[in-house]
Amino acid sequence: MADLEGNLEADRFHTDTPVAASTFHVKGAESYDYGMKHRLGRIFSPESGRTVMLAFDHGYFQGPTSGLERLDLNIAPLARHADALMATRGALRTSIPPSPGTPLVVRASGGPSILKDLSDERIAMDMSDAVRIDASAVAVQVFVGGPGETQSVYNMTRLVDAGINAGIPVLGVTAVGRELTRDARYLRLATRIIAELGAQMVKTYYCDEDFETVTSSCPVPVIMAGGKKLPVDEALDMAYKAIDQGAAGVDMGRNIFQRGNPDAMIRTVRAVVHEGLAPADGVEMYRDLSGGLVD
Ligand code: R5P
Repeated sequence: MADLEGNLEADRFHTDTPVAASTFHVKGAESYDYGMKHRLGRIFSPESGRTVMLAFDHGYFQGPTSGLERLDLNIAPLARHADALMATRGALRTSIPPSPGTPLVVRASGGPSILKDLSDERIAMDMSDAVRIDASAVAVQVFVGGPGETQSVYNMTRLVDAGINAGIPVLGVTAVGRELTRDARYLRLATRIIAELGAQMVKTYYCDEDFETVTSSCPVPVIMAGGKKLPVDEALDMAYKAIDQGAAGVDMGRNIFQRGNPDAMIRTVRAVVHEGLAPADGVEMYRDLSGGLVD
């Protein structure tokens, strides 16, 4: 165990120097097994190296939140625009048709509802069912610094072991309690722990200062979490900046499905993430596609 006293400030992030090129388009994945690469290759576009995930797994602790009242009506039509769907197995099996075959990132942790301590999660799905449902990855919350830290890290490492056996990558989600500050120092800590303990992808929040140090010091792809619904210009600006600062994609829920026109929004987010569309042009695109909305 390293001595925690007298640690030097970390400052050698080399944010201008990408990790040396490899033949596979997903960061850190060069030495993975074929099946793992094949699944990651479905999630991240070979052309841009990026992903637009649509998150609608909120029901696993929140119930039918706004925009997710009817998954069959509100969400299923959006699936064709996403590079991956982040959802529970229950939502997928009941409400999302297997066609058009959008890759699945299946929620594999759960337990407490919003009425309880959310950090007290356990593994909520066996890897054999991830195989059965054709998951391209499974997702698990990790509460670094929170009351559920050790248990949630344990959950993740168990899933990583099972995922390596099955060739299924794990998406570790940095879950930030109200008491923790979402600054770069914290996000570097959380994302690095998740990657070092074996997750092949990390989902985390954007922060206004030094986000590029979060992406540069994490050896696997960092996917920006959406968070609560923001005005369209702010949501697109955040996505643009995250990508510009090294994120490998976004995983957005409420900023898409709570919008006046979710179909227009996900198509606009795609243009920002995959084509580098500037946020101001994105607002125009959303306005055009939605018939005049700027919500
Ligand atoms: C995040 O921790 C959970 O996975 C959420 O249920 C979801 O993915 C959040 O999406 P958003 O914050 O973009 O609505």
